[in-house]
Amino acid sequence: MEFDVEKIRKDFPALSERTNGGNTLIYFDNAASAQKPLSVLEAVSNFYRHDYSNIHRSAHDLSMRATAAYENARKKVLGFFSAPPGFEAVFTRGTTESLNLIAQSWAQSNLRRGDEILLTEMEHHANIVPWQIAAQKTGAKISVAKILPDGSLNIEDFKEKLSGKTKIVSIAHASNVLGTVNPVKLLSGLAHSAGALVSIDAAQSSPHMLDNLSDIGADFYSVSSHKCFGPTGCGALIARRDLLDAMPPYQCGGDMIENVSWEGTTFRKSPERFEAGTPNIAGAIGFAAALDYLKNLDAAAAGKHEKNLLIRLSDGISSIGGTRIYGNAQGKLPIVSFNLSGAHPNDISALLNAGGIAIRTGHHCAEPLMETLGIRGTCRASLAFYNTKEEVDIFVEKLAHAAKILA
Ligand code: ALA
Repeated sequence: MEFDVEKIRKDFPALSERTNGGNTLIYFDNAASAQKPLSVLEAVSNFYRHDYSNIHRSAHDLSMRATAAYENARKKVLGFFSAPPGFEAVFTRGTTESLNLIAQSWAQSNLRRGDEILLTEMEHHANIVPWQIAAQKTGAKISVAKILPDGSLNIEDFKEKLSGKTKIVSIAHASNVLGTVNPVKLLSGLAHSAGALVSIDAAQSSPHMLDNLSDIGADFYSVSSHKCFGPTGCGALIARRDLLDAMPPYQCGGDMIENVSWEGTTFRKSPERFEAGTPNIAGAIGFAAALDYLKNLDAAAAGKHEKNLLIRLSDGISSIGGTRIYGNAQGKLPIVSFNLSGAHPNDISALLNAGGIAIRTGHHCAEPLMETLGIRGTCRASLAFYNTKEEVDIFVEKLAHAAKILA
């Protein structure tokens, strides 16, 4: 069946927004953050209007309603990502906090001098810096698997860097710069055979509905609500409950406490152990509403639509003299990072913005990858299922115009 993108677009009020000079917005910055459907806006608004209270604390009706909605959201997160039995979802502020939680709590209590942490050249800073700190504190070493010229992971190098010393492999399911989708099931199997745990940064893959945790078989998964069309400031760490329950607390106070006395404190089990203080209750409820929205989409049709847009966009950019695209691995996400010879990415973005087009420029929080590519930054156009081929055509036309001005 044809993917009815015009019908889908009506669900997203921001897509009708007018920007600079009255241009209708063309939103190609989805890898940074995605727009929100009405059902998410309504879920958050209804929660604050009708059910709002703190959770897990009081015995009154509103608190019970709020607690039920929050716990129902947790179930929806586990269900949407097909978490296997024995997995738990901890609500966090997003992928970055989830990765920091693993790197502080698990890594700092499990890693020793001589141990290794295996990352890849295409990681986001959020999947590098927490490990650097963990390595400094424990004496463990970071090793980095290389990428191939097309932006895919060099699997042979990954295998070479993996050894009995590797205690954890932490990899992006998909690169936020190159769009590369890593073969995480394969990598996870290789890592487990070497005796290492596996952490997946699913920030970019999750909005494209690629994450079936039962199939991938890793130990820790980090996701963000805002990339999945939900509210900001919320996300989850979905992880093996036995690992979580053996991990020391990450932050303290509120719900994570079992008993406190001056002699000492005992902590609850997961997920509460890692949810100190009043959590982002409305964020979790909005996140669940976003996942419900995605669940009701025809994922195969949405994926095909995105692939067609990616081909049209890549061909269009390549047809403009002086452009270079970074990353053309098979099966990549609709994320196109590119440069135009002799032009600064910010100048291109400014000209596109004047025409109502939103893209991101810079190093995309992946400076080590920029170093590998030998550049300082790129322009990045990143698409979602609600984008259209007409938008892609306008983008290409305006980019060609910008190229003429900047030549
Ligand atoms: N990690 C987000 C991006 O790639 C913010 O833009």
